[in-house]
Amino acid sequence: MRKLKGLVLAGGKGSRLRPLTATGAKQLVPVANKPVLFYALEQLVEAGIDEIGIVTGDTAAQVEAAVGDGARFGANVTYLPQAAPLGLAHAIVTARGWLGESAFCMFLGDNFLMGGIADHTRRFAEADWAGQILLKRVADPAAFGVAVLDGGGRVERLVEKPREPLSDLAVIGVYYLGPEVHAVTPHLVPSARGELEITDAIQGLIDAGHEVRSSLVAAEWIDTGKKDDVLEANRLVLATLRRRVDGDVDPDTTLVGAVVVEAGAQVRGSTVRGPAIIGAGTKIVDSYVGPFTAIGEDCDLSSCEIEHSIVLDRSTIRGVPQRIADSLIGREVVLERSPLKPQAIRLMLGDHSVVGVV
Ligand code: TTP
Repeated sequence: MRKLKGLVLAGGKGSRLRPLTATGAKQLVPVANKPVLFYALEQLVEAGIDEIGIVTGDTAAQVEAAVGDGARFGANVTYLPQAAPLGLAHAIVTARGWLGESAFCMFLGDNFLMGGIADHTRRFAEADWAGQILLKRVADPAAFGVAVLDGGGRVERLVEKPREPLSDLAVIGVYYLGPEVHAVTPHLVPSARGELEITDAIQGLIDAGHEVRSSLVAAEWIDTGKKDDVLEANRLVLATLRRRVDGDVDPDTTLVGAVVVEAGAQVRGSTVRGPAIIGAGTKIVDSYVGPFTAIGEDCDLSSCEIEHSIVLDRSTIRGVPQRIADSLIGREVVLERSPLKPQAIRLMLGDHSVVGVV
């Protein structure tokens, strides 16, 4: 059985999650109060891959501060700065020296997969294939890169966003590759969007006669590139939550179902209906926190109602008359009822913010 390295991609532009990603790495956006990137690291380690390289971009400092040397994950992490986000295959070129002749699992740091990768990893490690991709059946293949398989289980062809219905098997963001890929990447040319594409690299392996196999993923998979995808990943993880109350909850509060109140959090005169998680140091007063909501650390919520939402650290929501739903609220946001006349909505929003008013 070959020993794999892990290559986690945490660079990129993150343009679809602006304005959050204007100041923060998209791989650090929390899912159930844990950065989405951490799920990838945990799943690699769980699959026996503890030598991990993380490709970073402009947000390298934040990613390094969050992950450190990897010891808390049981991994040995090396950072691999990518000069510019020139594509997923360019990330492999960036990591070439560190990868050496090892086979590796490349995991996109913003991809979220329920159930882990242990079985897929074992299957690839035991074989001698040059590649293995993970596929998920999707209803809208035209939005994905899809794989065409031959009758024997080999991958015959990869097609980006097919216009004809060739296949409904979308290629997801976890790829297994052997060192053979390094003979292909020097010949890649940038695609129409100016990137070295991973699909072209894998197609290059196939065209060179190498065996590339696929593994079908039954569990849920989410590319957390956009707000609603992050909320959906949050919903999936919170659905597995068990009640744990380490914080301070007063007798006038009602907790229903799977609610986590972290140590140092305070809940007063409120209703929290799980699954929901309240981060350390957060104060909830006279409010309703509904299902599938994750409130980060050191937030301050009073006289408000919120459900199916994510609130990042140190934000304040005060006296908002409408219920907040389906929302992703960044760090240090202040959302409050204004006493000023005339009555109006007063906004100070970052570039690319999206607000829905009733
Ligand atoms: P994408 O989501 O494909 O690209 P992006 O981060 O530029 O996002 P957007 O489309 O919203 O602008 O990237 C998938 C993952 O790979 C993500 O975690 C970022 C990372 N990545 C790199 O590390 N290097 C790169 O050159 C690219 C393109 C992505």
